Amino acid sequence: MRTGVSLTVLAAASGVAAFWRMECRGRVGLARIDPLVSPGEVAQHAHAIHGSAGFNEKVTYEDLVDADCTSCAVTQDMSSYWHPALYFKHANGSYELVNQVGGMLAYYFLQKDLNDESKQIKAFPDNFRMIAGDTFRRNYSVGGLSAKAADPEKSIWAQLGQTTQADLAQRSLGFNCLNYNAQPEGSLYRHYMPEKEYLDQFCADGIRIEIMFPSCWNGKDLDSPNHRDHVAYPDGSMTGFCPKGFDVKLPGLFYETIWDTAQFRGDDGEFVVSNGDIQGFGYHADFISGWKEEFLQKAVDTCTNMSGKIEDCPIFSIQSEDKQRSCSMKVPSVLRNEKVVGNIGTALPGNVQIAYGPGPATNKNPAPQTTTVEVPTATYQPGATASESKYLPGGVFKELPNSSSVVEDAFTVLAQSTPSSSSPASPSPAPSSSPAPTSPPAAPPAAAPVDDSKYEVVRTDYVTVGKVVSMIIVKEAVEYVTVTTTTVTQTVPFKARRAAHLHRHHGRHGRHS
Ligand SMILES: *[C@@H]1O[C@H](CO)[C@@H](O)[C@H](O)[C@H]1NC(C)=O
Ligand SMILES: *[C@@H]1O[C@H](CO)[C@@H](O)[C@H](O)[C@H]1NC(C)=O
Ligand SMILES: *[C@@H]1O[C@H](CO)[C@@H](O)[C@H](O)[C@H]1NC(C)=O
Ligand SMILES: *[C@@H]1O[C@H](CO)[C@@H](O)[C@H](O)[C@H]1NC(C)=O
Repeated sequence: MRTGVSLTVLAAASGVAAFWRMECRGRVGLARIDPLVSPGEVAQHAHAIHGSAGFNEKVTYEDLVDADCTSCAVTQDMSSYWHPALYFKHANGSYELVNQVGGMLAYYFLQKDLNDESKQIKAFPDNFRMIAGDTFRRNYSVGGLSAKAADPEKSIWAQLGQTTQADLAQRSLGFNCLNYNAQPEGSLYRHYMPEKEYLDQFCADGIRIEIMFPSCWNGKDLDSPNHRDHVAYPDGSMTGFCPKGFDVKLPGLFYETIWDTAQFRGDDGEFVVSNGDIQGFGYHADFISGWKEEFLQKAVDTCTNMSGKIEDCPIFSIQSEDKQRSCSMKVPSVLRNEKVVGNIGTALPGNVQIAYGPGPATNKNPAPQTTTVEVPTATYQPGATASESKYLPGGVFKELPNSSSVVEDAFTVLAQSTPSSSSPASPSPAPSSSPAPTSPPAAPPAAAPVDDSKYEVVRTDYVTVGKVVSMIIVKEAVEYVTVTTTTVTQTVPFKARRAAHLHRHHGRHGRHS
């Protein structure tokens, strides 16, 4: 049975989770350092490092908070954020660092555990540590699906038995092909690094690598031997139900970094993640909280403006981009002369060899293999327009961008242009096959045709379109089989957001029937 569904644009909604985007425009360093995996030693592979300048190979919480700067925008955030870097391997065998565009963004999503939404989000305790992803992984193995296969709709992952932590971790990686002149891809849509030809053909603005961290915590351990076992993903990766034993909900951390793969357009070669991974399945990221817990808790509790902008959190002190960029860490002497940026010669830092899989890579930098491996490719899948109104495989809603506003990087905050309340956008469903990318900034619709008491939140998703991050709240009425998608949060200018119809099968949400 197909049922009609309405999509409504709202400027605000109560009881809805907020988020903020922590900009870290500076990179404090790029080096083979990893205090979680290789404490006190030189790490296997190179990382791009953001946050506190106190970062070092055996960093303590005190090192982080006592440092004199952070490369992130909020000066109270002395955390460390790090992840592998991306290199290009030229046809002649020499490697070159790909330019990282704009630093890094760390989203803090304040999503509650759907098991009990009365429970508050708990701030990261001081010195909380964790890793997302698995550097050794070299295959995609969720539900026997090929990496090329589209994800099933998120709400049925549990029914399909695709919610083991390993499954969710693989779906928590995204390689977002950027072309600001085309319709954007949804977040966490593609779980592998596209091959070079694909990037050349479609991704004129590079690749945005995304990774979602687990956000359900066992409530007691600041860390665990593998830096993972004390946390777990909710069953929708970003959102959903926390598994048993992990019933303390933390802010959901989501890193985004943009790499200018387009700078090598037309050059023969391949992209390689610094851990010797050309497919991206082994992408991962690390975090150590350098917040003061009490302060972060206050931010979590009170900074609930839907804009996602750190500027709208009154307790945050925000420093200039120049300050963020000028913050750097001290690289230990043993690594000071290691070439990690620019043309670095014929090996990755640490002489890491490419491991092709499908078996796991090892830490030992295995001998070079002569086999080639097929990098999954797929035809370009531009974002669905609002009029097409489809959920993406990953459950992320795609949206048509305002095609005239090409952005250089995703972090430039546009000048505020608050919608005038005198020109309310019509919320009336206007499905049309021709994308009309211009619509007035969404003001609260005159009449929101939703009686909230009849609806349950099924899930919440986020979509990033250029600089605009929107939160999509999917509500479903059990009796009337109607889904209302409520979109809130505008970072201005608000683009091409239109009401539309979408269709979906009822009955997939077993939990709510
Ligand atoms: C390999 O090719 C790149 C790109 O043309 C060039 O920059 C680099 O110097 C070359 N390396 C060697 C060892 O020839
Ligand atoms: C949220 O932030 C916007 C600016 O981005 C501001 O206009 C609005 O008043 C804020 N709302 C609340 C509830 O603080
Ligand atoms: C796929 O990767 C996982 C995790 O590294 C590994 O356990 C499994 O053996 C791999 N599968 C194959 C077919 O090699
Ligand atoms: C895109 O947005 C800008 C700023 O909001 C607006 O001036 C322009 O008309 C829009 N262009 C299109 C093609 O929608």
